Amino acid sequence: MSAVVQVKRVTVPEIRAHKNAKPVVCLTCYHAHTARLLDEHVDVMLVGDSLGMVMHGMETTLGVTLDMMILHGRAVMRGSKRALIVVDMPFGSYEESPQIAFRNAARVIQETGCTAVKLEGGARMAETIHYITQRGIPAMAHIGLTPQMTQVMGGFKTQGRTEAEWPAIEADAKAVADAGAFSVVLEGMAEPLAAKITREISIPTIGIGASAECDGQILVMEDMLGLNPNPPRFVREYASMGRDIEAAVRAYASDVRARRFPGAENVYPMKKAG
Ligand code: KIV
Repeated sequence: MSAVVQVKRVTVPEIRAHKNAKPVVCLTCYHAHTARLLDEHVDVMLVGDSLGMVMHGMETTLGVTLDMMILHGRAVMRGSKRALIVVDMPFGSYEESPQIAFRNAARVIQETGCTAVKLEGGARMAETIHYITQRGIPAMAHIGLTPQMTQVMGGFKTQGRTEAEWPAIEADAKAVADAGAFSVVLEGMAEPLAAKITREISIPTIGIGASAECDGQILVMEDMLGLNPNPPRFVREYASMGRDIEAAVRAYASDVRARRFPGAENVYPMKKAG
């Protein structure tokens, strides 16, 4: 008789317990096969709205819909058993009011089975974070460079490069922590500011282009695998999958053209009659 080992998913309190402890390992993930590969190695997989650019070739994240997030969220849930799965709330699905945010976040939770949602914004989103967490939906916050605001910010700009900007960003971090977010992504933020915020707030900070002092790090998986021809400057590439895929496809094309492809007779030999 073989014992069935039940794998338990990482929980929100377990992620919170990483504050000032072991760094939280996070990666984005949008599909089932990669979710299976990542599952054993990461604490959190984020189904980020960056999937609009990475999976669908969009210019920005603004065209991503709730249905797209749910579709990819379900795929990642099917591919994983252990990591905590967070699904991004896309542009237009939560900003209007805490009630609308709750309704859409509840849809994400119910239709994907994920544990938590992420939404962009600091102090201006505190009321919404409080509202949804009080009603059972764990929220990861996201401050600093918030890609859904790039039209207003005038592009992807590192935040906090002058000390005059710091108090507002620190206030954002405190506001989301006080509102009940279980962690906060610090994206595209001057290193000393991200380190200072990490020391100042009670929830884990997850850095991306921010500081090694953060309580955890996240990268877009395709960037760190070498699939993005123009990755952000802070990304370390741990593989060259872009080059590997091209080489594999070149070899395949050359086999097909040279008729080196195994014929079906080798794989499924003809059965002898009688
Ligand atoms: O959408 C995303 O992938 C993100 C991460 C970059 C944090 O928000």
